Amino acid sequence: MKYLLDTANLEDIRKGTEFFPISGVTTNPTIITENGGNFIELLKDIRGIIGERKMLHVQTLGETCDEIMKEAYYLREQITGNLYVKIPVTKEGLKAMKKLAKQDMSITATAVFTANQALMAACSGASFVAPYVNRIDNVSANGVNIVKQILTELKVYGMHTQVLAASFKNGQQLTEVANMGVDAITVQYDLLKTSIEHPPLTDMSVAKFIEDWEGTYGTKSIIID
Ligand code: E4P
Repeated sequence: MKYLLDTANLEDIRKGTEFFPISGVTTNPTIITENGGNFIELLKDIRGIIGERKMLHVQTLGETCDEIMKEAYYLREQITGNLYVKIPVTKEGLKAMKKLAKQDMSITATAVFTANQALMAACSGASFVAPYVNRIDNVSANGVNIVKQILTELKVYGMHTQVLAASFKNGQQLTEVANMGVDAITVQYDLLKTSIEHPPLTDMSVAKFIEDWEGTYGTKSIIID
């Protein structure tokens, strides 16, 4: 499982990479505008925190293949390291994916809401496809189920494209897609943090271990003491 942070908040990226096994960062235009400021400088700051090897996924905005390709070249020029150009699955987006994949650009197909879109993007050269689990749930469909369909189709056709599940709002969604063997998930820092918490049992257990230990070996003592 690859965990990515779905944010451009530098503090969250700092904390996320310090504490969790993070493989990279995903952004989208909304996430970028929430932070504001100079777009390229922000991306460079993110790269500075995560280093050159971790993935940085950055989305294009152009509506035509030509515009998308120009944006992709611009991003490649400006951003060093392991870059993935996120392209929405539209007709023009697929055309751009085919061309850019032939030029060895790494592509993440985004705004995926159906298995048909995901398979088409995979056949067009996308390295990752990103289904939006919670946005699918929001329209009374089943996001986890769509992820399952995508995983099945990619397996049936022996595709190397990986599934980067996105748009999560709770830990249960994370558990369900992980159970299906999804390749990667992208999550906001707060949800990632909450997903490993268990205040009643983990915190209580840790507190009891410390209390017992300190009762015998002294306050604030640890193993090396
Ligand atoms: C990731 O690629 C998507 O842009 C993101 O996860 C969407 O999440 P949201 O539905 O919470 O905006």
